[in-house]
Amino acid sequence: MKLTGIAASICAAITFVPSATIAQDREFSVGLITPPAHVWNKEAAAMGDTLGELSGGRFSVALFPSGQLGSEGEMLQQLQTGALDMAWLTSGEVTTRVTDVSALHTPFLVDNIEDAARVLRSEEAREILDQMPRALGAIGVCYAMTGMRQMMSREPLNSAADLVGKRFRITPAPPMRSFFEIIGAAPAPMPLTQVYDSLANGQVDAIAMDYESIINFGYHDHAKYLLETNHQMFPMVALVSGRVWAGLSPEDQEILREGVQTHCDTTIDRFVEGEAGKFETLKGVEGLNITENVGMDFFEGAVADWDAQWKEQTEYVEKLRAVVAEF
Ligand code: BEZ
Repeated sequence: MKLTGIAASICAAITFVPSATIAQDREFSVGLITPPAHVWNKEAAAMGDTLGELSGGRFSVALFPSGQLGSEGEMLQQLQTGALDMAWLTSGEVTTRVTDVSALHTPFLVDNIEDAARVLRSEEAREILDQMPRALGAIGVCYAMTGMRQMMSREPLNSAADLVGKRFRITPAPPMRSFFEIIGAAPAPMPLTQVYDSLANGQVDAIAMDYESIINFGYHDHAKYLLETNHQMFPMVALVSGRVWAGLSPEDQEILREGVQTHCDTTIDRFVEGEAGKFETLKGVEGLNITENVGMDFFEGAVADWDAQWKEQTEYVEKLRAVVAEF
């Protein structure tokens, strides 16, 4: 049957409306390396509720925790192809493709977690997110964090000399590897999901880790010494696949941006509020020996050496140190 007049125009309008402009129900997949107990996972789940509210019930999320979708590198590839909609990845993973992110791992950039939060919310840090669509094929919506990094070991670490030659598990990322090389340790990059077993079977002597993960995984079962170093902050980057983003209407992109940003903010706030309490919890762990307030001097010039090396690679080392100098 041939349609004429108004009927034909309506039919044509319906046929040619781009799919992005039709309000669709959407379940966004979100990949994380962290286990369900981690704050990131709880906030990513809460992000689903927020997106549901902001979209009038159209949007929800399906979480894939604990590296179910593979390593963070694999998740990054899935974001690029659009096989994965979103991921909350460690900033460490992103450093290999966006070198400026390395500056967020500058050792002793900040003295405390409150200042870490301020850096992550600074204009200078957020500028780096703008590079992500081109470099990663993903939109870097915002940063959050998993607190400050500490050191744990199977044997006591009383001085810089004790670090030399120790097989130190690190998150795979060039700026972290550099720091451990400079202090004379033997860095062993490995994903979070392998850390507990590697400590248990003695494959590594020590780890760099945050309080949240130490408590979640119980690393103190096999590492009885904790140095409160606060030597680096440990950011997260909330990413949305560029392909998925491009398929959304501007209104839906805005909903997604707002929902994700809301939960980057609440994640940061939860870490700031919870960090001291987590340290207190660890102080109560029987058999765990804690050395408090291990400062930059413990590392005997390593920070200056790291800065000298990384200033050559990214201007953001100096930019972020300048941001902190203004606090
Ligand atoms: C890690 O690789 O150490 C790590 C990754 C995600 C959250 C916490 C720690």
